This record gives sequence, structure tokens and C-alpha cells, in this order.
Amino acid sequence: MRKKLIAANWKMYKTPGQARDFFRDFLPMVDGHDRDEIVVCPNYLAIDVAIQAAKGTKVAIGAQDLHWENEGAFTGEICTSMLVAVGVTDVIIGHSERRQYFGETDDTVNLKLKSALSAGLTPIVCVGEVLEEREAGLTEDVLRRQCLRAFNKVSAKKASKMVVAYEPVWAIGTGKTATPEMAAEAHEIIRAEAADSFGQPFADQMRILYGGSVKPENAHALMSEKEIDGALVGGASLDPTSFAAIVKY
Ligand code: 13P
Repeated sequence: MRKKLIAANWKMYKTPGQARDFFRDFLPMVDGHDRDEIVVCPNYLAIDVAIQAAKGTKVAIGAQDLHWENEGAFTGEICTSMLVAVGVTDVIIGHSERRQYFGETDDTVNLKLKSALSAGLTPIVCVGEVLEEREAGLTEDVLRRQCLRAFNKVSAKKASKMVVAYEPVWAIGTGKTATPEMAAEAHEIIRAEAADSFGQPFADQMRILYGGSVKPENAHALMSEKEIDGALVGGASLDPTSFAAIVKY
């Protein structure tokens, strides 16, 4: 049995004060919720407030990105030791917005994945096809390529905590959700690629999240699909009531 993971990706939203307000309202709503793991990924400046607020609760705090070097002259970047030092446990890698707007490639995803795993962080590696790729029948090729390159020279032993998030780009922030069946089909492709790279036992225990317009209204149907091991939620995670409703699907 894979324990489901419900993760919030706040993207470029919320000041530290707004993050504090979120946790004040959200934490009592999920108090005692043990069925699923909960992770919230604020922007870097709100991470510390989030960690202080969530201390002593089961809510973990993640980052939205990292640099793969341990330190150095890389203006504007953040590395694993900095994240670990403040209490971050999870990190999103290769989000489609990073790929689309900030030059993230399959190779940098691979470097970031190795760095996160070496630091003991739980990586949430994002993959997903754009609309043109889906319409051209290329979804399987794209997912296999993104996974294969992300997993390059990563050992099963090291990767044990890795989580993959399937985020079809056409479903992000558009209100269009993949049906549970479409998501399950993509998850099976990802799991098959993980089995090729790491072996079937590894693939069987690896969690694959779905992301793309997850809302309280569709969370139950998506989470009931046995191939879907959780959700990576953008817009609907910004409001405490809405995110708590998703957590409780
Ligand atoms: P939305 O939930 O806003 O579609 O965003 C999904 C996402 O990109 C999560 O990483």
C-alpha cells in the first residue's frame, strides 16, 4: 500500500505574513489527519514562517526548486544544504513552469534529482506532456524520455524516497483536468519506465502524484483511482479551506 501524498505548490504567491495566516487557519482543519502525508511548498521567503508554523504537526514543508551545486557563485540560487538547514524535507524538481520559462531541461532535472537525493530530501520530480504532444499521440514518448533522462545514473537504493508527479501541461491552471482514466494511463507509463530503470519492486512502491486543476470537486474521483498516489495542487492549495477539503477528499 502506497500512502498518498497531498502536496501544495504555492508557486509565486503569498508573503510570509500571508503564509502565517494560511497555517493558522489550515492546521486545525487537518489536525489528526493521518491517512495521507501533507506537504506544503511555499516560496523561499515564506519557508521559514511555514516551518515555524507547522512545527509539531504532521505537515511537512518543501521547496519549489533547488540548485544542484553545494555552494558557489550562482546569483539568485538556493542549494540543498540551505534547505536542509532550515528544516525543508521535500523539493519539487522540473516543474513545467521551470521547463517552460526558466530553461529547465531533462539534464538539469537529473542533476537536481541527484543533489536532492544526496542531501536526503524527498524529490517530487514533475513530468508531463504539452497539448500538441498529446494531440500528436506523443504522450508516451514524452513521459518515457523525461523519466529516462531524469533517472539517468540514479541508483534504486538512492532513489527510494523519490516521488514523481504527472502534470499534463494542458491541465495546469486551465481548469481542464485529466480524467482519472487518462491520469491512470499516464501513471502506468511512468511506472513502467521506473520499472525499466530501477526494477519492478521499486516501481511498485514509488508514488506517482497527479497535478493539474485538482480541486475539492474532483479530488475524490482522482484519488480513488488506484494508480494515483496523491496530488500536487497549485491554485486550489492557496486557500486553507479548499486545500483542507482536497486533503480530506
Ligand atoms: P493548478 O492546480 O493551479 O492547475 O497547478 C498545478 C500545478 O502546477 C502544481 O504543481
